[in-house]
Amino acid sequence: MEYKGSSAYDQDRFFEQYIARRYREESPNERIEKPVLFELLDDVTDYEILDLGCGDASLGLELLKRQCRSYTGVDGSKNMCERASEHLKDRRRRIVHSTMEEYSFPLLTYDLVVSQLAIHYIEDFSTLTNKIYETLKVNDQFAFSVQHPLLTSSFESLTASGKRNNWIVDNYFHSGKRVEPWIGENVVKYHRTIEEYFSILKRNGFIIDDLREAAPQKDHFKDIEEYERRMRIPLFLLFSCRKPC
Ligand SMILES: C[S@@+](CC[C@H](N)C(=O)[O-])C[C@H]1O[C@@H](n2cnc3c(N)ncnc32)[C@H](O)[C@@H]1O
Repeated sequence: MEYKGSSAYDQDRFFEQYIARRYREESPNERIEKPVLFELLDDVTDYEILDLGCGDASLGLELLKRQCRSYTGVDGSKNMCERASEHLKDRRRRIVHSTMEEYSFPLLTYDLVVSQLAIHYIEDFSTLTNKIYETLKVNDQFAFSVQHPLLTSSFESLTASGKRNNWIVDNYFHSGKRVEPWIGENVVKYHRTIEEYFSILKRNGFIIDDLREAAPQKDHFKDIEEYERRMRIPLFLLFSCRKPC
């Protein structure tokens, strides 16, 4: 069976194993992706923030600590929304159980739209980008990360343990649906080239301020072998863009 969008995260076994992996020692999300995302973000003091595919809203916790005015997390998984609501008791937060595709984006509302590792589940990135553009106030920021296109191009090199020793990059310019065998399930993701991400953002009116491939920083790792392994291939692609005045 193939799981699209959030549906894999509503399988309890998948959900618990995902959370355990997400926060394991030397987790690439924590050691590589998060520090780069925070380098890209504006000062969020007093910001109204929308987080798409918020998961358990650990990002919300950080943004609220940094004195944003409000944090709205949207996620299509019931398990994730429950975990996010338990996690964040702050009255400035709102957790919405909805897919990004179905969420009704209010016009000219947010100072920052952020998304960590959720947009590669979206088939129609252009329509979503247009909604994000419309929901932002002018001169405000859209920052997001996705699984790096070198990884989503092909999942042929995955071993039974889920760990790759070498990586196959194939069918790179054939964008579209891929099925990743991940945490014991077949999870649907959408591959796009770096150029496609860039041109979709540009076509929808955004100015791209920064693009990052999140090179690992040695001092973020305790295990030098893990650091060397992470130096072999990029895991993440991040963009920071702005709605012009
Ligand atoms: C890899 S997790 C990342 C969670 C969180 N952003 C983080 O970095 O910890 C991907 C998240 O995207 C959510 N998701 C996937 N497709 C979605 C969709 N179409 N609409 C809303 N959420 C979606 C999943 O439910 C899951 O919580």
